Amino acid sequence: MFENLAVVGATGAVGRIVLEQIHARQLPIKNLKLLASSRSAGTRIKFGDCLKTVELLRPESFDDVDLVIASTPDEVSAEFAPWATARGAVVVDESGFWRMDAKVPLVIPEVNPAAIQQHQGIIASPNCSTTQMVLALAPFHRAARVRRVVVSTYQATSGAGLAGSAELEQMTNAALDKRTDAVPRVFQHDIAFNLIPQIGSEKYEGYTSEEMKMVEETRKILGDATIQVCPTCVRVPVMIGHSESILVETEQPLSLTEARQLLSQADGITVIDELSQSRYPTPVNCVGSDQVLVGRIRKDLSSPNGIAFWCVSDNLRKGAATNAVQIAELLLTQTQVTA
Ligand SMILES: NC(=O)c1ccc[n+]([C@@H]2O[C@H](COP(=O)([O-])OP(=O)(O)OC[C@H]3O[C@@H](n4cnc5c(N)ncnc54)[C@H](OP(=O)(O)O)[C@@H]3O)[C@@H](O)[C@H]2O)c1
Repeated sequence: MFENLAVVGATGAVGRIVLEQIHARQLPIKNLKLLASSRSAGTRIKFGDCLKTVELLRPESFDDVDLVIASTPDEVSAEFAPWATARGAVVVDESGFWRMDAKVPLVIPEVNPAAIQQHQGIIASPNCSTTQMVLALAPFHRAARVRRVVVSTYQATSGAGLAGSAELEQMTNAALDKRTDAVPRVFQHDIAFNLIPQIGSEKYEGYTSEEMKMVEETRKILGDATIQVCPTCVRVPVMIGHSESILVETEQPLSLTEARQLLSQADGITVIDELSQSRYPTPVNCVGSDQVLVGRIRKDLSSPNGIAFWCVSDNLRKGAATNAVQIAELLLTQTQVTA
């Protein structure tokens, strides 16, 4: 039974939505503990109608905890997750640290829910740009086997946490005030009225760490190491909501009608696709939604087995907090079934 939940990184951009989701989805927990660093220990955060005090993260924090939902930087997760699992807790982790560990399932509940049964104490939630893409690729993979994906992302500044959102605001205000004293600290360049074709550091053959996450995590979640992915990840001056232009090639050809049907019937996807009425997803209309929104679905003009589409999702929700809370719900259901 999971009754005692700790939310690690409760003060962050993702952690705050995790709390919102736990409350909204009425996770059946008895005790809730909020953990963060010394910067915010002692502060009080709203949970439903009450205020809860944030405690300092330390090994003993997990003495009386059986489930953890964590949204911290990679290095923090690397250190604390073993503290929690050593005390018998299961950790659902949002960071990138554990995702490619062979002992750690990487889970999108609508795509590979059975993978959580293999967990050995830690379950990882994918990178935000991977989650929305793989949710949309999964029905194509099941029906016609995905062979190749070319994706360009347009990623919101909140993907870099609270500091990323604050920097978009500061740099935009400075640009509008015609001030030159604002210096980028989170992003490589001034993000105001700009696009930055770099997310993360250089990782492999000219691809960034964010791009390589899209390659490796896609293969792990879909359980097919032969899928070819060519990503370009771009930071854009949007506060919330990642957008992606995706071209997918499948082994078996799919008609446009079949492709639309696959996407329309998939769990977690809402299709908004009426170009003649200018109806398609935009980051502004995805904010606050737990769905992945898909539009501009069309046949690839350059290859017979290709389908092109546009995909938008709230990176803090389905890209992070919602997916992690859904994993926790799956764990709770499984424990109830086996109890
Ligand atoms: N933002 C997204 O769209 C998104 C999507 C998917 C996955 N993720 C991943 O989720 C994680 C959190 O991202 P975020 O956007 O929420 O970042 P964030 O806004 O910067 O929040 C980071 C959280 O981690 C806590 N933290 C940092 N250092 C700590 C330490 N030494 N001990 C304890 N707590 C510590 C912070 O607490 P303090 O208040 O004490 O600093 C804060 O609660 C990252 O690994 C990120 O890659 C983010």
